[in-house]
This record gives sequence, C-alpha cells and structure tokens, in this order.
Amino acid sequence: MVFERPRGVRDFGPGEMGGRLHVESVLLGTFRSFGYRRVQTPTFEFLELFSAKSGADISEHLYVFDDKGGRKLCLRPEATAQVARMYSSELRNLQKPLRLCYVSPMFRYEEPQKGRYREFWQAGVELIGASGPEADAETVCLAGECLRRLGLKARIRVSHIGVLRELLNLQGLGETEQNRIIHLLDKGDYKTVQESIRDSPLIRLLDVRGSGESVDVALKLVPDGAAKRMLEDMKRTLNLLDAAGITYEVDFSMARGLDYYTGLVFDAKVEGLGAQNQVCGGGRYDNLIGLFGGPQTPAVGFAFGLDRLIDSMESQSINMAGYAPDAYVICASEDVRTQAFAIADKLRKEAPAKIIEVEILGRKLNKALQYAAEAGAKYAIIVGANELKEESVMLKDMNLQKQAKVRISDIASHLT
Ligand code: HAM
Repeated sequence: MVFERPRGVRDFGPGEMGGRLHVESVLLGTFRSFGYRRVQTPTFEFLELFSAKSGADISEHLYVFDDKGGRKLCLRPEATAQVARMYSSELRNLQKPLRLCYVSPMFRYEEPQKGRYREFWQAGVELIGASGPEADAETVCLAGECLRRLGLKARIRVSHIGVLRELLNLQGLGETEQNRIIHLLDKGDYKTVQESIRDSPLIRLLDVRGSGESVDVALKLVPDGAAKRMLEDMKRTLNLLDAAGITYEVDFSMARGLDYYTGLVFDAKVEGLGAQNQVCGGGRYDNLIGLFGGPQTPAVGFAFGLDRLIDSMESQSINMAGYAPDAYVICASEDVRTQAFAIADKLRKEAPAKIIEVEILGRKLNKALQYAAEAGAKYAIIVGANELKEESVMLKDMNLQKQAKVRISDIASHLT
C-alpha cells in the first residue's frame, strides 16, 4: 500500500534538514545575542484565541476541529496570540521588558504553492512591556541582523498602522470598516481603497515612500494630534535604524493582514522568490495582551518564515552548512577497531562542536576514503597499527588531499 502526504505538508530528508537546522541556529543565535529567551507554546488552542483578533485573513485559514468533549479547537496559525495569552496568564509578573522568542511549525489552510504551505515554520520574537521607539527599532534591527548573518539580501519596508487607523478614525470609520480597508491595502487593492476613502489625507499618505525623510512629508499631510505624535515617534525609530546601519524603505501603503497591529509595522522581501517573497513580517500590537485579560501592556515583534528563508538562500546560491563531518575516523586494519572507536570518543569530548563520524561498515581503506569524500568530510583520521605504537594517527586533509602523522593528543587542535 502506498500512502501519500496530505497537500501542503512536506517531509525533510537529512540533506534538507542540514540547511534548515543551519538557518534555525543562526536565527536562534541572533535572537539570543539580543537577549531573547526561548518559549514554547502548544500546537492547538481554543479557536477563540485566534478568531478574536488575528484578523479575517487568518481566521478563514484555520484548521478547526472538535475534540471529544465537543470543544472547538484549532491548530495554531501563528504564535503572537499564544505568547500574549501566556504572558497574560503566567508571565505578567516577570521583569519588563520581557524578550521572548520561538521556533515552531504553524498551520494555515491555504492553497499550496511555492513558498506557501499548510504546515510551515516560523522563527519569531516578542518584546513585551516597552512602548517607545527604542523597542520598535530593536526589533527591526534584530530582523536586519538575522538577514545579515544569514547572508541574505532583502528589502525591509516600514509603515505605521496606527497613523492609518487614526486617519480612518478621523473620517468616522469604525473598527470593522478600518480592518476591511487595511486588508485591502495588504492585498494591494488601492483602487477599492481610493473609492472607499475619497478626499482624505490618507490617500496622499499612501503615496508617500522613500527614505526616512519621507516621514517629514507625511508630517505635513496629517492634522495635529495623535497621528502627528505617532509620526514623530516613527522618525525617532528610523533615526535609531540609521544609527544601526539598517537599510529600509518607508512605504505608507504597506499594511499587514493581522488585525492586532496598532503601531509601526514592517516586512522584509527578497528578490527572485515569485509571489511569496515576504520572508518576515511584524509590528507593534499594544492592545492584544489587554484583550486576553492581562493588564494593558505594549508589545512588538516579528516572525520569519523559515521555509521562505531557505528557498531564498537557495535562489541566492548561499551555502547552508549541512551535516558534513569535520572528521571521519577510519581503521586501516580490523585489529585497531577498538582504538579507533576510543579516539572518536576522545575527540567528541575535546571538540564537542565538531561532527565526528566513525566508519562502522567494515569498509576497506580506499572505499572508506571515498565515502569520506562523498560525505564532504574535512578530515579523515586513519588509525593504523604502526602509528598507534607512537600514539599517533594519519590525519588526511580531504580538500588538499595531503596527509601527515599527528599525535592523538593533538588531533583536536588540527580540526579547524
Ligand atoms: P505573518 O506575516 O502572518 O505574521 O507571518 C510571518 C511570516 O511567516 C511571513 O512573512 C511568511 O514568511 C511566513 N508565512 C506565513 N504564511 C506562510 C505559509 N502559508 N507558508 C510559508 N510561510 C508562511 C505573523 O504570523 C505574526 N505573528 C508576526 C508577528 C510576531 N507580529 C508580531 N509578532
């Protein structure tokens, strides 16, 4: 019997996993270097957690099911609402600001295509308890630093949902209508937006894009009050991004499909990925935690789509270090098998970050060297009876195809 996979989900073989783990560890290492601590949330939740405020876009694409007690559950489509729930119920007494991060699979019932899956992975951060431009700037910088460490070329766009909403407020539009317009913007349907909001400063604002100075243009368009204050804050955020050397583009026509955003929003797009080229999205959401029963707490965050990052690294021909062994330990003859095993064990203790593999199929030296070359091993360690008498082995550099006798106690220092 042959079983097929459901649409939109994938298996990852060991080759692909090498690349995926590399990207994951670069992201987690970068999050950690900014002080973010990892959390884990459940795979399924009560449906209301996401239907409450995550936006029509997501709610339409949920995997919903009843459990045996008749409760409505769903697979998580994203983790921000979950982290907000966790914060409200369990973490609210922790010292602020709270820097949290996660890597998890997410589930959305979407039409599968390249870069869009029904199960996909997100690596994200949530910075909770800080409302100022410094917090906004920190998250954009962190996203930019992740892209830099991955070696990926991407365009970061910045906009401000708070300003858009304030202008819609001034027009007397309620929340539902505002959400509708923001979704239209997110989909790039400017025509319908223009028809819905004729003669508002918003229409002119949507055309404002460019460097940080375009915020000055925006400042001239909006009336005094909340919108101006938000733009002043945005200017401060962009100054901080300039100071950190982050390249970005202001684009007030950019909106995001999730309803919980209240302030600065941003995304990152890469060239050459086709329609699904957004590798990262995020922004400020100051009302979500209050909605889940916690005290009103400001928060900002973002998530990378890991699958799209990997696709774009492949399309930009970036090498993703995989599982190639640093050293492959081979016995020159059967009688030294025990010693070879012990040498591998000693190396793993001395160089815990290195990948040390041992030949275990009884292959002859030539065949074993051939395997080491195919596996991309940097070094072969050839254990032979004669060298062992001198407490040594032959260390073969697989790239240079040169070998030299090295004392067993010195092997680890050669594994660069
Ligand atoms: P999002 O824009 O819905 O935001 O998703 C973030 C990223 O996940 C997207 O930029 C994209 O790379 C990836 N992604 C989304 N859907 C798919 C899919 N079907 N297949 C492959 N990749 C996908 C959020 O989820 C927010 N929770 C981000 C956030 C965190 N905002 C504040 N904090």
